[in-house]
Amino acid sequence: MRAVIEGTGMHVPDAVVDNHRMSRIMDTSDEWIQQRTGIVTRRFAADHEASSDLAVPAAEQALQDAGIGKDAIDYVVFATMNPDFYFPGSGAVFNRKIGLARVPCLDIRQQCAGFIFGLQLADALIRSGQCRRVLVVGAEVHAGLMPWKSWDILLGASDRAVDPEEFRWNTQFRDRAVLFGDGAGAVVLGRGAEAKEDGRGLIDVRVHTDGTEAEKMWVKAGGSAFRPYFSPEMVASGDIVPIVEGREVFRTAVTLMPEAVHGILEANGKTIEDVDLLVMHQANLRINEAVQKKLGLPDAKVFNNIQKYGNTTAATIPMAFHEARKAGRTKPGDLVCFVGLGSGLNWGAALYRC
Ligand code: ACO
Repeated sequence: MRAVIEGTGMHVPDAVVDNHRMSRIMDTSDEWIQQRTGIVTRRFAADHEASSDLAVPAAEQALQDAGIGKDAIDYVVFATMNPDFYFPGSGAVFNRKIGLARVPCLDIRQQCAGFIFGLQLADALIRSGQCRRVLVVGAEVHAGLMPWKSWDILLGASDRAVDPEEFRWNTQFRDRAVLFGDGAGAVVLGRGAEAKEDGRGLIDVRVHTDGTEAEKMWVKAGGSAFRPYFSPEMVASGDIVPIVEGREVFRTAVTLMPEAVHGILEANGKTIEDVDLLVMHQANLRINEAVQKKLGLPDAKVFNNIQKYGNTTAATIPMAFHEARKAGRTKPGDLVCFVGLGSGLNWGAALYRC
């Protein structure tokens, strides 16, 4: 039997921040950001909103789309690199907020590849007969990782000039700070009918980790490698802001993502011509364009939405798939390929028959 996607949902916070607003608080421009990343706007969560808060409406929408109540869910995989607290993980907080008493909620930390790893777990739980329905959530509030203090200027609540020292400080991080946005996506996976050669459902998921690259994309402070996990010095030196070796990550992504797509297709006796829709992790539109070109896919077979939301890490793939479905970009029988790569390095691909 195959696991089938019964419903999808997404949620983004209200505050829309365009590139012009970003340029009020650091030395950047709409032109640079669009040219290098394709990003036009991103969303940022309000002060009180955590990853679990964004996950709840996304999950509720997915449940509604599937036509089921939350009682039908018997397992949750919660992918995030921005847990609400150091511990417990966001899964437990989500469990309380959505009201899933005693349903196991597992946190996974595979960053931008979190959703692909989550699909593999859900698939295994369903196909082994342990679960009937699994909710896979990717939810991220990156706002707390951003270097600036002047949220009032960024969110348009104030037109005051930013302090010159803060402007200089923010500019140090501009290569990464312009990339991220907040959001959540969710899918409900359930038991499909018996697997037929080309039947509906999740065909395969293949994931990889290479820890030798762990410090290519990371946040230095905040873990057990330090005593204490956080210190005022770490905050003062910016060690709580993500470090991304941008050019190298770019090169790695345009090599490993096409490799992962070809690998899963080959393992399943398919070719790139069989793919009807490619849904990639949304880290940088230029990465995705390069991957698309390498794979030789036309625009009609690729869906991107990073222009509106920036990089929402574990949420990008379920958000993009949800929007693609709602825009009529998938039809019964279509072969969808998901692919993502992120910090770890963790990466992987999945094949799904609609
Ligand atoms: N605005 C204006 N100028 C900028 C900005 C900015 N926001 N950021 C960097 N610059 C400048 C640099 O200072 C540099 O100036 P110089 O030539 O005078 O020294 C110039 O632009 C080029 O900088 P690069 O860093 O080489 O620019 P690049 O074209 O590589 O783009 C980027 C940077 C967008 C980060 C790109 O490398 C990238 O997207 N890499 C992949 C990132 C990624 O995938 N991250 C994954 C997410 S992280 C995670 O998974 C947790």
